[in-house]
Amino acid sequence: MIAVSRGEADRSLYDRIAAELSRKDVLPASRIARQHRLRQTLSLVDAPLGRILEVGCGAGFSAAYLRGQYLEYVGVDHSEKLVEFARQYHPQDNTVFCAADINLLKCEQPFDCAFMIGVLHHLEEPVKSLRHIKSLTRSGGWIVANEPQPGNPLVSLARGIRKRFDENYSTDQVEFSAGQLRKIFLDAGLSDIRIVPQGYLSTPLAEVALPLQRALTGVAELSCLLDRGLEAMIGNWGNRLSWNLIIAARA
Ligand SMILES: C[S@@+](CC[C@H](N)C(=O)[O-])C[C@H]1O[C@@H](n2cnc3c(N)ncnc32)[C@H](O)[C@@H]1O
Repeated sequence: MIAVSRGEADRSLYDRIAAELSRKDVLPASRIARQHRLRQTLSLVDAPLGRILEVGCGAGFSAAYLRGQYLEYVGVDHSEKLVEFARQYHPQDNTVFCAADINLLKCEQPFDCAFMIGVLHHLEEPVKSLRHIKSLTRSGGWIVANEPQPGNPLVSLARGIRKRFDENYSTDQVEFSAGQLRKIFLDAGLSDIRIVPQGYLSTPLAEVALPLQRALTGVAELSCLLDRGLEAMIGNWGNRLSWNLIIAARA
């Protein structure tokens, strides 16, 4: 039997489900929820975005959602199929997509900000990868991740059920606690660490391509509006309720 590494298995999974993952940013309701998640993730960066790197960029829709806010966007994903979709959807001049393992990426010019959504727990050695991402980021620049978290048992149960029944759902659904995320970022040599809860109502719409998308558009708008309020009001108490955590730190 040929042994397949976790990284290789992950890459083939995302090649196989590339079309389905890309569709989530085309469907109207999930697109609204995914834009909200991105906006909230980068709201922790208190500086102009400048030159940005997205790790595990998927079909690259962050490049479209953030258009006008960055000087250059570089998206990296080890799934070649996803990068093909990204190049078709976003052919703009200041947007570059690389099909590569993030651990092997080399860049001459440093990034002002590197970010990733739902990617850190897929990396085989998160501390090592973060150290590498740090080496690609200018000193004092931002590194931000949005990650599923285990604080709400009902949310973890919902993820467990999905893992069991949805064959397109990655089995690498590790949920890092706030403490574990902090340690990973500290061990990678990052400083000025901030962690905030994200996503109370809108996350399922961002994650699953539900049917009746047109009818769900209003629901998506309302849930993002409520989430914006809840995310601002509940603050760190939300660690016990939210679907995700955002962790931001300086390189
Ligand atoms: C859960 S998906 C998230 C995709 C996208 N960020 C989104 O929010 O839809 C994880 C992504 O990380 C990518 N990925 C995982 N490990 C990687 C690595 N070592 N280098 C580059 N990309 C990686 C996968 O191919 C996949 O596209």
